[in-house]
Amino acid sequence: MLEAPAQPTPPTFQSDPLAFLTQLGDGQDHLFFPLGRYESLLINSPSLINWLFTSRSVGRGRFFKLFARFIGNGLLASEGEPHLKIRRVMQTAFTRETLPIFMRVMAEETKVQLEQWPTNTPLDLLSRLNRLSYRVSARVIFGMDQIFRDEEGLAEVINAGSGFLMGRAPDKPLELVPHKGRRYHPLVMEALEYIFDHWQPTPIVRVLQGLDEQERYDQTLTLLFASLETSAASITYLFYMLGQHPQIQSKLEQEVRSHTPFSVHDIFRMPYLQHTVSETLRMFPVGGWFNTREALEDTEIEGIVLKKGTPIVASSWITHRDARFFPNPLEFRPERFFTAATRGTYFPFGGGVHLCLGSSLGLNQAAYLTGAILSKFDLEFEPDNLLTPQITLSLTPMGKMGARVKLAAD
Ligand code: HEM
Repeated sequence: MLEAPAQPTPPTFQSDPLAFLTQLGDGQDHLFFPLGRYESLLINSPSLINWLFTSRSVGRGRFFKLFARFIGNGLLASEGEPHLKIRRVMQTAFTRETLPIFMRVMAEETKVQLEQWPTNTPLDLLSRLNRLSYRVSARVIFGMDQIFRDEEGLAEVINAGSGFLMGRAPDKPLELVPHKGRRYHPLVMEALEYIFDHWQPTPIVRVLQGLDEQERYDQTLTLLFASLETSAASITYLFYMLGQHPQIQSKLEQEVRSHTPFSVHDIFRMPYLQHTVSETLRMFPVGGWFNTREALEDTEIEGIVLKKGTPIVASSWITHRDARFFPNPLEFRPERFFTAATRGTYFPFGGGVHLCLGSSLGLNQAAYLTGAILSKFDLEFEPDNLLTPQITLSLTPMGKMGARVKLAAD
């Protein structure tokens, strides 16, 4: 007797979050789905997404309570009046006055790092871009050569956090170190102490140094998790897309090389470069792939009845790839951003009171590093490059990306 072929097991949120979200997002404005033990609402329409980011009837909810166990009660995890109060303080580090300081330091550090890239030989572009971005972030944010003892050490800290959050190691209880009324993962504790021993007074560090000790731990940790991986991943995906689209690479090279010598100010006069960054964050929304909130009370929106405590999710991974909002969504096409996206369909930096504090810095870093690399080097990508997004805390590019680089003037 012939056996029936085994049915493939459908992906679950825990086994493969992106595959799970992809099959869930089928062009509907909203649907209910099981998330662990909870019946949750997925929303995927501009009006519902705008509602989620602005409504007083929703709050951060249980996911962020869990998050706080790992990263403390910093900006990401806190809410209400305490969140607004500390956000106002932290905002003073991200102003029109501080951005030029960040950009100047960014340019200096990028120059140092790019001078170390070997030319005319195969290069592991994936790890080079990671290192470049981490080193630039370390210098700009904390005034340090590197954030932790080395890049691998930092990856360990981030993996420990994401393993914990995604419930990937339920059999390994977290052994946390007590400190001033909170408990931290030992690697996190080590990373924080390394930062406090080595940081220099950048505009961000000055604000952190002015906080009391508990706040300083919480906000430093939040910045560490919110900024480094997201910045590194965005530029990696951008170059991966250039490798797949030589015509976009040459168009971008033309724009970048029409400004010589290339400087930080030029990125604001390069629309194609800006749109390439936007398109990268559309296809690969490295943060905010899963914005969760929770109904704070029984409520109703657009006829959807919600019980207090219902988890509500808006996923940029789903909405950014929805053909109703972005025609041919799997096509990488920077030109689509010559027309602004409809409000509520494009949210790579989240929204509402928790909107990313470092969005300008993140966008400018991606644009500047891309411009600096393309103005200095010709890149010949290897034909068998393959990167796939994996969930750590953000959408981390995993796989292989190699290239041969030579000086553009040669
Ligand atoms: C391309 C790079 C980046 C992306 C895509 C990104 C994305 C995001 C997203 C989606 C959120 C909202 C999370 C939520 O509501 O749950 C967020 C929050 C945040 N981001 Fe970013 N981010 C980036 C870079 C940065 C940088 C460079 C910094 C700081 C130097 C930063 C600092 C923050 C902080 C402090 C928050 C929390 C704000 C709050 O809750 O009040 N981010 N980011």
